[in-house]
Amino acid sequence: MAYQKLSPIDQISEGKIYSFSTRYLEIAIVRKSDEFFAFEDVCSHDGGSISDGEIEENRVICPRHFAAFDMKTGEVLCMPATEGLKIFPTRVHEGFLEVLLEDE
Ligand code: FES
Repeated sequence: MAYQKLSPIDQISEGKIYSFSTRYLEIAIVRKSDEFFAFEDVCSHDGGSISDGEIEENRVICPRHFAAFDMKTGEVLCMPATEGLKIFPTRVHEGFLEVLLEDE
């Protein structure tokens, strides 16, 4: 496991879902005040890009068939998805958002 640098935190605003490509997966990021949530940017229902979806309070909504997930836990909150999203720990280090990823 290792932290990977994604972006300066001052370039991440609230109210948007950002997508970052790492070497082996797409990660979606949401900022809530000084907290950052990271989850895989692939809907567990049918592969939709969550970062093209919407934020409603603490949930993110897939744009394809409107499954909803808790952005903190990845838990499914609304069908048609039945499996949650994989989430990743984050930290801020020297002004950059970093995400903890498994080694390839
Ligand atoms: S692909 Fe996300 S709800 Fe269907």
